Parts: sequence; structure tokens; C-alpha cells
Amino acid sequence: MRLTVIGTGYLGAVHAACMADIGHDVLGVDIDTARITALSEGRPPFYEPGFDEVLTRALASGRLRFSNDLRDAARHGEVHFICVGTPQQAGSQAADLRYVNAVVDGLTPHLPASCLVVGKSTVPVGTTARLTDRIAGLAPAGVRAEVAWNPEFLREGFAVEDTLRPDRVVVGVSGREADETLRRVYAPMLKDGVPYISTDPSTAELVKAAANSFLATKISFINAMSEVCDAAGADVATLADALGHDTRIGRQFLNAGIGFGGGCLPKDIRAFAARAEELGVGPALRFLDQVDEINRRQRTRTIALARRLTGGDLAGRRVTVLGATFKPNSDDVRDSPALAVAAALHQQGADVRVHDPMGAANARRAHPELRSGSDLLTACRDAEILLHLTEWSQYREVDPVELAGVVGEPVLIDGRNALPHDAWRAAGWTVRTLGRPY
Ligand code: UGA
Repeated sequence: MRLTVIGTGYLGAVHAACMADIGHDVLGVDIDTARITALSEGRPPFYEPGFDEVLTRALASGRLRFSNDLRDAARHGEVHFICVGTPQQAGSQAADLRYVNAVVDGLTPHLPASCLVVGKSTVPVGTTARLTDRIAGLAPAGVRAEVAWNPEFLREGFAVEDTLRPDRVVVGVSGREADETLRRVYAPMLKDGVPYISTDPSTAELVKAAANSFLATKISFINAMSEVCDAAGADVATLADALGHDTRIGRQFLNAGIGFGGGCLPKDIRAFAARAEELGVGPALRFLDQVDEINRRQRTRTIALARRLTGGDLAGRRVTVLGATFKPNSDDVRDSPALAVAAALHQQGADVRVHDPMGAANARRAHPELRSGSDLLTACRDAEILLHLTEWSQYREVDPVELAGVVGEPVLIDGRNALPHDAWRAAGWTVRTLGRPY
């Protein structure tokens, strides 16, 4: 099938390459010409494990091309996927739909024939209905463009795997024709038994907002428990393990630490709560304000712990932060808890060095005031305290004995509860975390 994928960020670029990989003829479109050039030459504009292989394979097959012109998209596609960002609006909690609107406005007048427009971005419930009217007002005479919503659930760091082998495909459609078209798009996956849920557009839009809200709530739940554990002298890691054995609860997303960040969970829960207010059901989602607040408090609690461990004043103290990205296996520093903590420590006068295996360049762009160390041992030299804030596997493999010989003081805050604490303590380190009695 002839597909276009408009917007080539994490979501769109991976979707475009994977759709070509499963046999479709795909045109990826973006207004960012540098990005289009990089992708056309097989150079991924971001770090995502496995993406370069799929991109190379898709380009070599001749089934994937890129353009920066929406008129090319209009001519090419039977199905147009919208994959542009829906960031938080400046000065508000709500989602900013200007990029989605711009795609629709730029594409629709050039459509030569009837087609299906499929949104994948995370949007406020009601967006499909609104865009249906917008498109109807812009389409050339005789051209009918139906709108469907097909939310994406991929995780950064697993984007290729999640796109090719998703837990489920959810589509929100108004008619049978759109449903059949989307079944054909995903046929290679569906024949492998991936569940396919076809529903109305509002439900599909809500599935995405609800899924991310649930995940955020689960993380903030365990982080709230970490506060109670700190007050009671109990151990949140054991608590999480014990809860997780209950198959109704499950152990995933119960890792207590400095909390969630990234380009999705934080802004999605805010946008969802804002949309509920608009719909007149604000109280139903007000708990998401608490989820957000608990999440932000973990950052504050980590900073306070660092201050206590350095004698109450961070001014001039040499601090090394391990990890800058919002999660491992990504170079994404958007709303990264690690980087937010590093910046706050710097603001309180600490001499902060940041190390990250993949995110150092993005961290420097976002926070030029922070120094970064290219190799781990140099970044840790003479540090009076280390904060482990993104759980890259290479940090788990560090030899705590060797590192103790490099730092000024062997003091560690494990903000992700992910390092082998016994081994670190045996090597002479003072280890502290949130929610554990040591
Ligand atoms: C999230 C969802 O998991 C995806 O399903 C969704 O498609 C995506 O948002 C999106 O809307 O595009 P992602 O942002 O890649 O994916 O990251 P997650 O793996 O969900 O992690 C989010 C944050 O939660 C990270 O900062 C991570 O460190 C933190 N986290 C995760 C915890 O603090 N504790 C946990 O137990 C798990």
C-alpha cells in the first residue's frame, strides 16, 4: 500500500521505516530538511537501538523515501499517518495541536483523490471529530478524506520492537471502509496474532491518554510508598517485589526512584486533566495532579538528600551526575528527571559534572551551564558525591572498588535503585536511595 508518514520524530521515523520493512511503499515527510537529508542517507537523527538497521534495510528495498513537501505526500498516499508532536502549550497544561492542524491544512487542499488520514499522535479526546470537520472544509471538490485515530504505544529504547511486535493495535474509525484499510496496513502483524481492537475514534483517543496516565500513576504510587517507607524506616524495593508477585498488580513500572520524565508521560497526564476540565469532568482526573506532584517531589527529595549528605550546603561541592537522559537506551533529555536534578544542584552552587553514554550532546544543548565528562572515570574524578540518575547498564557494570579510588568521597545516591548496593558498600561506599532504610 502507498503510505505517507508525516512527522519524522521518534514516532514517525520508526513507523515509516517499519511500515516499509513490512512491505509498504512509504514516503516520510518532515519540514526539517536536515532531518530529511539525514534519514534519506540512512543516518538516524536520534539514538534508538535497532533503528539504523531497519532504516538501512528499508532504504535499500526502495520502499522508503523522504520529502519535505506535503504536496508530494498528497500525491503519494492512500493512507496518511500524522505523527507530529503534540507538546504542552506554553502557559497552560493543555496539548498544543498547532502541528497537527498545520499538517491537515497543508495536506488537504492538495489531495487528488479520496484517502484515509490516520492520526497517531497523542491528542485530546474529540480531535478526530474536529479534524473531520476541518478536512471537509479544506478538501477539493469531490475528494473525501476520512479521519481515523490509531494511537501508538511504543516506548523509546524499544521503538522498533514495539512497532513491529506491538502488544495491541487500536484503531478508532467511523466506518467499515477505514477499518478494512487499516486491517490491510497491519495485516503482516495481525497474522502473527497481534490483538486488533477496532472502536470509535473517541475511545481510541482515550485509550492512549488512559494508558499513559495509568503508567504514570503506577510509578507515582510506588514513589509515594517510598516517602512512607522513608518515614517508617521500611524498604520500598522489597515492598515493590512483594506487591509485584500479585499478578493483578504486576512488578513492572513499580521501580521507585527519581520518577518519570520524557516527552510523553508528564505532558500527557497534564493534557488529559486539562481536557477533563473542558469536558466538565475535572474532578474525575484531579488525582493526576497528585501523580504529577508526587513525581516532581522525588526530584526535590533527591536534591535535599544530596544536600544533607554534603553537610547541608552544596556551594562549591564537587558533584557528578551519572545519566542525563530520561531513561536508558535513548538520547532524549526532554523533561529528564536526571537533568533537572543536575541543573538544580548547579543552581544551588554545586560544581556539577554530568556523564551520559548517549545523551551528553543533547544535555549540553539543553543545559550549557553544566559541565560534562566524556569518560566515566574522568567525570567522577575527585567528586564528593555521585548521583546515579539514569539506569544505563554500563553503570551497573562499573567496578565500585576502582571508582572508590578515583572519587574524592565514596558517597553514592542511587536515584534509580538499580545498582548492586551490597557490592558498593563492600567497596567502602556510603549508599543512599529514596525509600530504603540505609
Ligand atoms: C511512554 C509509554 O510507556 C509508551 O507506551 C508510550 O507510547 C510513550 O510514552 C508515548 O506516549 O509515546 P516512554 O516515554 O518511552 O514511553 O518511556 P517509559 O518507558 O514509559 O518511561 C517513562 C519514564 O518513567 C522514564 O523516565 C522512566 O525512567 C520512568 N519509570 C519507568 C520509572 O521511574 N519507574 C518505573 O518503574 C518505570
